[in-house]
Amino acid sequence: MLKIILIVVVVGGIIAGASGYFHLRRVAQRNKAEMAPYFGAEIPYKASLGKCLVIYYSKTGHTQQIAQRVAHYTGADVYEIQTQKPFSKVPWLALILKRQLSTGRYPALKELPADVSGYDTVFVGAPVWWYTAATPMLAFLKQADFKGKKVVFFSTQGSNYGTFFKDVRAQAKNAVLLPGAAFNNLDASYNAAVENKIITWLNKLNTPTDKEVLVGEQFHH
Ligand SMILES: Cc1cc2nc3c(=O)[nH]c(=O)nc-3n(C[C@H](O)[C@H](O)[C@H](O)COP(=O)(O)O)c2cc1C
Repeated sequence: MLKIILIVVVVGGIIAGASGYFHLRRVAQRNKAEMAPYFGAEIPYKASLGKCLVIYYSKTGHTQQIAQRVAHYTGADVYEIQTQKPFSKVPWLALILKRQLSTGRYPALKELPADVSGYDTVFVGAPVWWYTAATPMLAFLKQADFKGKKVVFFSTQGSNYGTFFKDVRAQAKNAVLLPGAAFNNLDASYNAAVENKIITWLNKLNTPTDKEVLVGEQFHH
């Protein structure tokens, strides 16, 4: 009996390890292909998006990095969404967060939503959690009113943003949606290419197609 259990455990481990390895390899290949157009000289920034605000939530810094680069190019003010209490550090936190998503019981936020009335364009960024937006962002969107402003969503994720854009757009009250952009977490060798991807996206926001404005379709390069 013990022998059978041992064999099942070992074979299971080998299968899990192999599928993890092939998944990572597929993600790396996709990242390489997606980012290929952005290698090369720095693309000049030439968008004029009026007075901009970047609103973001970030738990481990990836979304913050993109938010800061967007603010750098657009000259935006920055508003960080923060939870009233820090998330616990238990090993099963991911399951707690999954439960927040399935029950709609999102964490309380530190401050009331930023007032968007003085801005022309509002960027809104968050990490992907369980194929949708992080719960502090969903909590923020519950309270926010974009008052007819242009709103541009962006995400950061390991490799799969799932229904992030569909979900946040559906929650964005009174927003005129412009094309968003999704950023996979990449190693430092991609830094310059990520910069060019951000600039390309921002430049395109000046001349989105009618379809993109209507449905806030995601930015396609
Ligand atoms: C609870 C949890 C769920 C996640 N779910 C996904 C997911 O569905 N798809 C994905 O590609 N990445 C997923 N990730 C990875 C994060 O989206 C990614 O690391 C993100 O860039 C983190 O952003 P931050 O550093 O701004 O917090 C998840 C991370 C956490 C903590």
